Amino acid sequence: MSFKPTSSRKHYHLFEEEQIDHMYFDISPAGEIDANKYSLYNFTGDPKLEYAEWDSRMDMMNSWFSDMKANERFLYERESINGSKVVSKIIDPVTKEVREMLNFASNDYLNLTQDPRILEKVTAIAPYYGAGAGGVPLLSGSMNIIKQLQEKIAEMKGMEQSIVYSSGYGANIGTISGLLGHRDVAIYDMFAHASLIDGSKGSNKKFFSHNDPASLEKVLKNIQNKYINKLVVVDGVYSMDGDICKLPEILDIAHYYGAWVLVDEAHATGVIGKTGKGTLEYFGLEGKVDIITGTLSKAVGSVGGYVAASSRLINYLKYTSRSYMFSTSPFIGSVVSSFEALNLISRQEAGMDKLWENIRYVKDRLLKAGFNIGNAETAIFPIIIGDDNKVKEMTYRLHQKNIFVNPVPYPAVPRKLTRVRMTVTAGFSMEQLDYTLNQIEEIGKDLNII
Ligand SMILES: Cc1ncc(COP(=O)(O)O)c(C=O)c1O
Repeated sequence: MSFKPTSSRKHYHLFEEEQIDHMYFDISPAGEIDANKYSLYNFTGDPKLEYAEWDSRMDMMNSWFSDMKANERFLYERESINGSKVVSKIIDPVTKEVREMLNFASNDYLNLTQDPRILEKVTAIAPYYGAGAGGVPLLSGSMNIIKQLQEKIAEMKGMEQSIVYSSGYGANIGTISGLLGHRDVAIYDMFAHASLIDGSKGSNKKFFSHNDPASLEKVLKNIQNKYINKLVVVDGVYSMDGDICKLPEILDIAHYYGAWVLVDEAHATGVIGKTGKGTLEYFGLEGKVDIITGTLSKAVGSVGGYVAASSRLINYLKYTSRSYMFSTSPFIGSVVSSFEALNLISRQEAGMDKLWENIRYVKDRLLKAGFNIGNAETAIFPIIIGDDNKVKEMTYRLHQKNIFVNPVPYPAVPRKLTRVRMTVTAGFSMEQLDYTLNQIEEIGKDLNII
């Protein structure tokens, strides 16, 4: 870099080969890195950071956070003191007062985290098994109650067998890394979840345009005969956009080119399909995909992840999927609650009708107000703004009105598509929805978003 450090900007030393260089940041009135001018990418993704010592990397990020706090715009880590409720009690990260907030930031779409029918089972059964599983699944952590959950998942997903993990992240990373080697390739929808993409750190990866079967075909055509095994990876419902994967076309193309297909059902289970079984049921494609993964942490209302497939594939993964083999079996409380939640969902007693009533209402009002909500079709609504500062401002103003939504700035999504992410759950009343939508409209007008 050619310019010299000046007192009006913060600068950090870099070690670029033999040469010492600097990273420069504009300073805010609070004397910190100006939060309005930089995004998380500057402190986590910029390639220059590789040349900074840990002290500098941490100082940069902390200075940026300090500026947000000085401006009362730090809205990460908002702490709930009563769980994930429709009205959650949240400790304000700046003022420390407890706010009763309408929770439009939770993935607990059916509000099952609080369901008394589930909590009753958990309090009755979980203490019998104890606070922990005591071992990894292949050794001492195997339990009949976990097996029952695995059978329930397999049945619900129309697969021969399943295994559960302690998280959806672990299930995705472990499934993909357990299957793919150096001569194999994963072909991802470009909006596929990070946990899927992280699975192919040790293997090859390609991307196709979001939900675009023609783009997938182009990629598959280009890589014919280059790899031994090919896996097309998609989300059933996309976590930041709420749209549904074009699975019928994607499946046809993938199988035509000899690729297998993995669908992550994280945001689809309990939300789409006639009886909440997810994307395959939604399209009438049960038994047609090769691998299904998912989490028990969204509509299922607990924590944990799974992969469901043929018995031979699951048996293979049990001994190749490192996040399964080398990680203790899940907490029994979450096994019991997930089992009960899946029962309620498949018996259609989990409130999916009310969820859809709320989804339709919110969608209709956001569209009528003139917001850009992309192709949202499920419980996730992106309010696309394309301006990080407006995204932060809208989130902050809604926070002041006791409405909890999440900002999704760059680089979580492309710059033009930065957004406020709002999720709808079954438990909201019409009055709560109206209050929220009125506030969103008012703020949207004030910030020239609509
Ligand atoms: C699409 C998708 N897959 C996987 C995960 C990871 O699941 P978990 O939170 O259970 O680790 C998430 C989010 O958390 C997700 O949105």
